[in-house]
Amino acid sequence: MQEKTKGDAYKIVPQKDYPNSYDATTKVAQREQDENARPAIKNALPNVKKYSTVFIGAPIWWGEYPMIVRTFIDNVNLNGKTVIQFTTAEGSGLGNTAETLRKAYPKAKVREGFTTEGNNVKNDPSSVRSDVNKWLNGLGY
Ligand SMILES: Cc1cc2nc3c(=O)[nH]c(=O)nc-3n(C[C@H](O)[C@H](O)[C@H](O)COP(=O)(O)O)c2cc1C
Repeated sequence: MQEKTKGDAYKIVPQKDYPNSYDATTKVAQREQDENARPAIKNALPNVKKYSTVFIGAPIWWGEYPMIVRTFIDNVNLNGKTVIQFTTAEGSGLGNTAETLRKAYPKAKVREGFTTEGNNVKNDPSSVRSDVNKWLNGLGY
């Protein structure tokens, strides 16, 4: 995506690492969602002033962006910009992420997002690359 859009990338780095195991991460993530938590981001937030379009990508956790993405969303104002969601998931696709973005940024234009299975990224990266290219072509890139 970055290659094709010639965009800059920003990675959300958690203050506190998530566990390595899937099950342990599930427990931490469940608690964060139950508590509507805003886990701390370790690195400085980006200055988005010069961007007109921002893509927000993450794995789907229980049908939603992980709560740490909400920390990002609460602190980075993307109203007035075009916002595009992309996710990896096992079956939930984009889940509720479009709705979440629309609620958080009522004055942003939320465009059609991209989703693929996390396993595809690992096992078949060239077909994911081709799907991403098709999607970005459709968006006019
Ligand atoms: C805490 C947790 C909750 C998850 N909830 C969902 C879900 O609701 N729907 C879904 O399709 N996949 C769900 N998954 C699977 C993840 O979306 C999948 O592991 C991820 O997209 C793979 O990307 P990664 O290798 O970067 O983690 C969940 C995974 C975790 C760890």
